Amino acid sequence: MWKKLIALMLGAGMVCSGMTACYAEDTSFPWWKKTIAYEIYVRSFKDSDGDGTGDIRGIISELDHLENLGVGAVWLTPCYVSPQADNGYDIEDYYNIDPDYGSMEDMEELIAEAKKRDIRIVMDLVFNHTSDQCEWFRESSAGRDNDKSDWYIWRDPKPDGSAPTNWRSIFGGSAWTYDENRGQYYLHTFLSEQPDLNWENPEVRRALIDVADYWVEKGVGGFRLDAITYIKKPDTFDDGEADAEDGTAGIHAVTANTDGILDFLHEFKAEVQDGTDIFMVGEANGVLPEDLPEWVGENGVFDMVFEFSHVLIDAPSEMDWCKTRAWTLPEWKACFTESQEKTADTGGWYPVFLENHDQPRSISHFLPKDADRVAGGKALAALLLTMRGTPFIMEGEELGYVNVSWDDIDDYQDISTKNHYDFALAAGHSREEAMEGVHRFARDSARTPMQWDGSENAGFTTGTPWLPVYEDYKQYNVESEMADPDSLLNWYIALSRLRGAHEELVSGDYEELFHDEEQIFAFSREYGGKRAVVLINLSTEEAAYDDSCVEGAGLLLSTNRNSVKGKLAPLEAAVYETVQG
Ligand code: GLC
Repeated sequence: MWKKLIALMLGAGMVCSGMTACYAEDTSFPWWKKTIAYEIYVRSFKDSDGDGTGDIRGIISELDHLENLGVGAVWLTPCYVSPQADNGYDIEDYYNIDPDYGSMEDMEELIAEAKKRDIRIVMDLVFNHTSDQCEWFRESSAGRDNDKSDWYIWRDPKPDGSAPTNWRSIFGGSAWTYDENRGQYYLHTFLSEQPDLNWENPEVRRALIDVADYWVEKGVGGFRLDAITYIKKPDTFDDGEADAEDGTAGIHAVTANTDGILDFLHEFKAEVQDGTDIFMVGEANGVLPEDLPEWVGENGVFDMVFEFSHVLIDAPSEMDWCKTRAWTLPEWKACFTESQEKTADTGGWYPVFLENHDQPRSISHFLPKDADRVAGGKALAALLLTMRGTPFIMEGEELGYVNVSWDDIDDYQDISTKNHYDFALAAGHSREEAMEGVHRFARDSARTPMQWDGSENAGFTTGTPWLPVYEDYKQYNVESEMADPDSLLNWYIALSRLRGAHEELVSGDYEELFHDEEQIFAFSREYGGKRAVVLINLSTEEAAYDDSCVEGAGLLLSTNRNSVKGKLAPLEAAVYETVQG
């Protein structure tokens, strides 16, 4: 009923922020296209009660930081009740908050407090799988004949008792686990503690729609749909072509983006989103730029999808972190440009991101080894905040975090990091080589606690942090960077204000410039008679370019006080603007 009411108001050009405040809005350019999004890894953002784990009250206490950055949407990693086998991506109860993180009252307060600052909370919906401790799975695994017996993906063993297929889970090992109660195997794309739901069953889809509706009613501003490309499985389950010495076949190649998946997602969108002002962004590993027109835009299923070509550019093998692939700047630029073009073609929108909680820190990932950390961070920030789309800042990215390089694998906590270390040893790599892979790709690097000040534990907790605070916290923290006009954090704030003041940086078309240039990432943004040109030197050498693209243009912002047209200092980022007439 209430959704219909909202649909009527939307028709009249009104948009509701949650269920209360309503304001006139250009519906072709909704709020989430104009804003900046920020990912909070809840466990690591701010601990309010000294147990060493970040929590919701901690987030409430630090909303000023997000407001300073001009953030309007905050994506929270899953904070529902969970046994935490995969830090919350294994959900036991979608309707309650994990006691480690607080209570539902805390969450309601966060939604309300954030809203007062024009910030909407975005929930992470993990719907490919649940926890094996979820009530639904307990019931399903209790026997072959109960109301939920078909809610997960169960198959009989092969005649010799082995797993139904040779599929390997994304975190390694068989994608099947045997269950004594049923005498059957269940499928899990990730850990065995994360059994995959059976989306073919309409009751499952209804249950998931109900979960999403519940959070829409709480007033959230959107959803990130986790691992969503895996929800549709093939019609028949056959062994895949082995891509590892143990004869297994990575499940990604077999199940990602299977035909028919979009039918499920169209249904979900119609049921959950239509008539609301929320946005939905899908985590779409396996969706290629050429697939984007079916996924976003007028006929798409999401407002945006995280497509991974640019972050996977150096990772040739899912299983072997020791293997990396050399890449060039033109190749990297092509990833962005192709995604931009494919999304724009059908009126879609792009979520610009360089980091998230699964990826290395961007300064370590994309810049030359000798790059100055602050200057390099500023160059990447210019890319993130001026490209067409909604920028997603990963907590800590605005402070200049780099990858951690701890000596011992036992210092790392993430299950996927530990597994990859073991795979590297099993593949014959030395301990040193395996650790190099860990230093390069460990998910822990994106998850170390937020550095608020120079006090013990960086002001993150008064207790013992669940993951060590990175050793550089005395220099890189919110308090010290706010006080330093040349800091990376203040550069982020300046870029955020620049976006707010120059509409072409938000709604303008994107056109890449100087594609073959090996040092410079450059593009223009054009809208309403204004044209901004963004020029970013991602190398540690000076770079020259043909300055006719900025003829007559005024300099809006640069990392270099002595910026000169036609030349960029090492790692310089500059934004120029021409106004017609
Ligand atoms: C997504 C999440 C990742 C998680 C996995 C399983 O890729 O981003 O952190 O481990 O799904 O839910």
